[in-house]
Amino acid sequence: MNTTLITGASSGIGEAFARKLAAQGRNVLVVARSEDKLITLCNELGRMNSIRAQHIALDLSLPESPALLFEETRKRGLLVDLLINNAGFGAFGDFTKIDLQRQLNMIDLNIKALVELSYRFLAPMRERKQGAIINVASTAAFQPVPFMNTYAATKAFVLSFSEALWEENRTFGVTVMGLCPGVTETNFFEAAHGSKPPARSSQTPEEVVDTAMSGLAHRQSSIVSGWTNFFMVEAERFVPRSVVVRMAGRMMRAQYEK
Ligand SMILES: NC(=O)c1ccc[n+]([C@@H]2O[C@H](COP(=O)([O-])OP(=O)(O)OC[C@H]3O[C@@H](n4cnc5c(N)ncnc54)[C@H](OP(=O)(O)O)[C@@H]3O)[C@@H](O)[C@H]2O)c1
Repeated sequence: MNTTLITGASSGIGEAFARKLAAQGRNVLVVARSEDKLITLCNELGRMNSIRAQHIALDLSLPESPALLFEETRKRGLLVDLLINNAGFGAFGDFTKIDLQRQLNMIDLNIKALVELSYRFLAPMRERKQGAIINVASTAAFQPVPFMNTYAATKAFVLSFSEALWEENRTFGVTVMGLCPGVTETNFFEAAHGSKPPARSSQTPEEVVDTAMSGLAHRQSSIVSGWTNFFMVEAERFVPRSVVVRMAGRMMRAQYEK
């Protein structure tokens, strides 16, 4: 059964992906840790659309989780033709003061799980010469972000990895796309223990999902969500990196010292 697998679908951008794709008639498999939220979501999606909505509750930062998830899709006879690696979190603050284990877990989720899921699900897509992967990066992928240092570095990895895979796989009929949202109205900032930066360009998760689906339809290697975010990212290319990091530092320090 053809299915879209969405990680981090219990809230925010992942949940918006699940709602959009289910409304388009796609079967969905949603993954996150909060099983109660996933069950409620699946019940609603199954009732409203004539699709199959299934869930698996997993902590994807654990080393065994990506392999377990892949095996479970096999056992259920699911053919994953769209993988959305969306689960991720950030941590806001002074690097030396954020719990080390929390930062290492972030790398495990934002990078390791995403790489392993891409690896496992890409091979069958290539065999079928059909399929797509959306990896959720961030506009933070384009520059270092003081006081969100590890997070921004994980997203730089995700963007670089996705664009390289796009080139490697496009001749196999498989698209890998890095999605770069800017500030989006979700639980992200609460989970990062930080306040939402003042951004006139703040978007809804639904707007981010619409941008992603349009980028995927055009088989883009990456896409920045929102015109203001796009121009910011493009403008940074013309400014020395040391200036960009200082400007980002000034803005983030003001947030940190609030
Ligand atoms: N919001 C923004 O401004 C923004 C901007 C750029 C990029 N992003 C990226 O967008 C993606 C989605 O975030 P969001 O903004 O939608 O925030 P969110 O509402 O906090 O959603 C994060 C999702 O990831 C899941 N998750 C967290 N830790 C997990 C774990 N260990 N195992 C499995 N699932 C886990 C959460 O579910 P459970 O807690 O139930 O596990 C939740 O479903 C993230 O990759 C984030 O970095 C967000």
